[in-house]
Amino acid sequence: MQKYNDDLFAHKSKSWDMSSRRVKNAQAIAELIVKNIKLNKEMELMDFGAGTGLLSYFVAPFVKKIVAVDNSPSMLREFKNKCSEFACETEVLEHDLSEKALEREFDGIISSMTIHHIEDTAALFRRLYTMLKPGGFIAIADLDTEDGSFHSDNTGVFHHGFDRKRLEETAKEAGFGKIHFDTASTIEKPHRDFTVFLMTAEKDR
Ligand SMILES: C[S@@+](CC[C@H](N)C(=O)[O-])C[C@H]1O[C@@H](n2cnc3c(N)ncnc32)[C@H](O)[C@@H]1O
Repeated sequence: MQKYNDDLFAHKSKSWDMSSRRVKNAQAIAELIVKNIKLNKEMELMDFGAGTGLLSYFVAPFVKKIVAVDNSPSMLREFKNKCSEFACETEVLEHDLSEKALEREFDGIISSMTIHHIEDTAALFRRLYTMLKPGGFIAIADLDTEDGSFHSDNTGVFHHGFDRKRLEETAKEAGFGKIHFDTASTIEKPHRDFTVFLMTAEKDR
């Protein structure tokens, strides 16, 4: 099993937001979340693998608070530097969700381009379930199955995208219902295009 003690994103954090491709992708995911889920100004969400806050930034105007959870201190430093630009309250928590859940409950959990970094997807979904209030939602975006060429360096990448049907089964087994997939965006790279799905699902009331 691959195990990393270092901050995998240390050399990328400073320039993360300079990629217009990343910003456009996060904005497209946020717009689809806002379209598919009834958000309101009383909600407290977790952004899992929030990184520098690209997704949080675009979802912030629609909720009360976003808790940024990430295990990379360097990415969270960039998130904190931008805190005053977010249109909602924010909190930053350095935490590795591949190890254990937080003892907190949220109205919803959003995530973009993070779950391919988590080896045990089934355990992750069980943890996400426990961190939701009854009726809470997940809105998770990541790559559809790809050939391994999305990242130039696959260190820390456990999944070359996901098969939607298999991910739906994994979510069902963790207890989620009302599972729905949409295509959120297409990331164009010089050698080929990659599609990004948004999966939404709910915990029972
Ligand atoms: C590809 S980046 C995406 C960042 C941001 N969501 C975005 O769309 O720009 C993946 C993020 O997930 C975080 N991450 C990876 N494994 C994690 C884990 N086990 N627990 C918490 N965060 C994790 C990384 O540190 C990184 O910030």
